[in-house]
Amino acid sequence: MKDFNYYAPTEVVFGENSEEQVACLVSKYGGHRVLVHYGGKSAIKSGLLEKICGLLADAGIKYFKLGGVVPNPRLSLVHEGIALCRREGIDFILAIGGGSVIDSSKAIAYGVPYDGEVWDFYLGKAEPECCLPVASVLTIPAAGSEMSEASVITNEDGGVKLGYSNDMSRPKFAIMNPRRTFTLPPYQTAAGVTDMMMHTMERYFTHDDDMTLTDAIAESVLRTMKDCVFAVLKNPEDYRNRAQIMWGGSVAHNGLTGCGISDDWATHQLEHELSGMFDVTHGAGLAVIWPSWARYVYKENVSRFVRFAVNVMDVPNDFTDPEGTALKGIEATERFFRSIGMPTTIHELIGREITDSEIKEMVRKCSRGGSQSTGCFKVLHAADMEAIYNMAR
Ligand code: NZQ
Ligand code: ZN
Repeated sequence: MKDFNYYAPTEVVFGENSEEQVACLVSKYGGHRVLVHYGGKSAIKSGLLEKICGLLADAGIKYFKLGGVVPNPRLSLVHEGIALCRREGIDFILAIGGGSVIDSSKAIAYGVPYDGEVWDFYLGKAEPECCLPVASVLTIPAAGSEMSEASVITNEDGGVKLGYSNDMSRPKFAIMNPRRTFTLPPYQTAAGVTDMMMHTMERYFTHDDDMTLTDAIAESVLRTMKDCVFAVLKNPEDYRNRAQIMWGGSVAHNGLTGCGISDDWATHQLEHELSGMFDVTHGAGLAVIWPSWARYVYKENVSRFVRFAVNVMDVPNDFTDPEGTALKGIEATERFFRSIGMPTTIHELIGREITDSEIKEMVRKCSRGGSQSTGCFKVLHAADMEAIYNMAR
């Protein structure tokens, strides 16, 4: 097992009516003037936004609302949020929503105390010295941003989607009431489960050895998510299984499934170009990329893919044909994605044939003009990226 630091400072308040504690938690973490940041309509429609604002008001906490965060959250709204926070002297950001709202909140939090352009952090041109505290009331289990150090923002100018990670933005608390996820459409439910499985798999496919416990946790997360998703697609109001999925999303991305290993993230890097260019759902994009990535790289460590096939996808182990077993595991994963309504080709994802020049543009962005590689299980250069996009088309 490799040496590691495990840092997961977020206070998780999980369960029925957990949102009742919001004002108390905001005060505990020093919030007096709060930006309540939210998305398009779900938090309004469900009454959650009104409830949270009422609880803050009852506790004498001043709040300001900024809605309109869209999936693949935009830099322009981040700028608007920064201006609002400065104007109103806001000292705490409360996200009500999913990964997009939380990521937008983190970007605003970096930008408020910074004199320069917040996008510089995402471009790797600057590092923040501090940021405002952020917390969330989670409404969709998926991105894991409620406990992660990452924020992913799309700059509309050129459709450039970039992530920036810094421990200082890890949320102070995450309120998670599984009942609040009953209203999720099947596609978002399935894309969310795909994303959390991929957060686990990006770490699971490694060449490192001797991490029995980390492997067992990862396989357990994967098997649990795989089983529970069918139950909630059948019955969206299944609290028990919604709860497993909600906690699974956090466990998959709070670092626990990565302790002691080197992680990969190539599928995520390749996907971010798809959702940056075509504004598609991140989890669905991952379902499209992963099978092609897997077929492209599995020979780097066939036994790892065999282990995944057998322990996660229930493929019988054919000891005489490890490659065959590995490939059956990839096929079974692809079948699983389809069975929960995810696309598995770019054509299905964007609704038309992708052009060669669009693929070249994604490769250019992903490889930063050919200067940067991605991945660890197999290091991918521009030509590898192009091959994987072509396999997925
Ligand atoms: O805007 P509203 O109306 O709220 O609708 C949202 C949105 O359309 C809807 N939704 C959320 N909660 C709902 C609901 N609909 C009904 N009932 C509810 N309870 O779901 C849609 C998707 O929301 P979004 O926040 O975009 O989903 P997700 O959590 O999947 O976040 C995706 C973003 O996170 C980034 C992705 O790239 C993408 O931009 N990621 C962030 C990561 C991180 N910060 O650590 C890691 C991930 O790998 C990922 O890259
Ligand atoms: Zn993801």
